[in-house]
Amino acid sequence: MLKQFSIVPDILEFDTCKEFSQHFNLGKGDLIFTSKRCYEKYFKENASDAHVIFRGDYGKGEPSDVMVEAIYEDIKDIPYTRVFAIGGGTIIDVAKLFALETFTPVGDLFYTKKITPKQTKELIIVPTTCGTGSEVTNISILELTAYETKLGLADKNLFPHYAVLIPELLNDLPLSFFATSSIDALVHATESYLSPKATSFSQAFSIKAIEMILSGYKKICAEGLDTRYKYNKEFLTASTYAGIAFGNAGTGAVHAMSYPLGAKYHVPHGEANYAIFTGVFKTYQKKNPDGAIHTLNETIATILGCDISCVYEELEALLNQLLPKKNLGSYGVKPEELKAFTENVMTKQGRLTANNYVPLSEEEVYEIYQQLY
Ligand SMILES: [Fe+2]
Repeated sequence: MLKQFSIVPDILEFDTCKEFSQHFNLGKGDLIFTSKRCYEKYFKENASDAHVIFRGDYGKGEPSDVMVEAIYEDIKDIPYTRVFAIGGGTIIDVAKLFALETFTPVGDLFYTKKITPKQTKELIIVPTTCGTGSEVTNISILELTAYETKLGLADKNLFPHYAVLIPELLNDLPLSFFATSSIDALVHATESYLSPKATSFSQAFSIKAIEMILSGYKKICAEGLDTRYKYNKEFLTASTYAGIAFGNAGTGAVHAMSYPLGAKYHVPHGEANYAIFTGVFKTYQKKNPDGAIHTLNETIATILGCDISCVYEELEALLNQLLPKKNLGSYGVKPEELKAFTENVMTKQGRLTANNYVPLSEEEVYEIYQQLY
């Protein structure tokens, strides 16, 4: 028997935040984790009795153990039965923990595994970016400052009950967030397509997400970057498709290799992925050009209208219009750190590297970092 596929959360879509708030009757007993701006603009009027916490009150940057511990101190005495996460990857990944019976010390949940996750509250997730896919996965990813790394925790107790899509929320997404989040979704779709755990079911979601994202980019680049809001629904849907794909098949070396960069230099997740993306895929292509990567490259070349031989160059030319690719040196990485990055990938990111299209040796990972430097 080979398990083929599953989607756990119910996926709901609302035209407006007001409809969503009324449907769920937001109020007493609810914990809402969001940004102040989003709350005031879209939810304040319809959720006044809920307990609301703002991400901005707990530091900037990617989600971390420090942030989770600080929030825990503020909510530990609040009685709540439902958790609403309304935000990007940081808010969602952190809020998933609030639905657990016990989630501190965070290191014991993620690293030493002394805490066994047990979901005791209802979890409702509303993405405000078009990238994380976390609304449909059972994964939470945190920077563990205590261990100087980013780690993912995957457990069925982290699945949301509802993933809620509200396209109007993307109207507030600045271009840089639109670019980094949608590129993250593209990486989710491509990495999961190549994963050894991929099935024809997950690949169908991967391919559809890739088609929607790349043809969306083509339209936006042709019509002007400000026209992107016209395609909110397409990008939000594509991001969730990619989430469904990687929730089943996983992501691999691109994510694994981007984590040390993201953790050490606070590079936004999608941007760190983009810095690594084609470096890994070019190596995959060299090592096994005839497997799933051939079909993937053919699909991308058809969408881009280019020859398969220059698919990565053309892909970068398109993505660079939204987010110029940078080399690792320009983030402040020092050449001597590449060994430590490599070691981190080889020793701490096994959850991800198990999903590599072909196995990558320590030397190969190091070489990819050097080429991207
Ligand atoms: Fe990602």
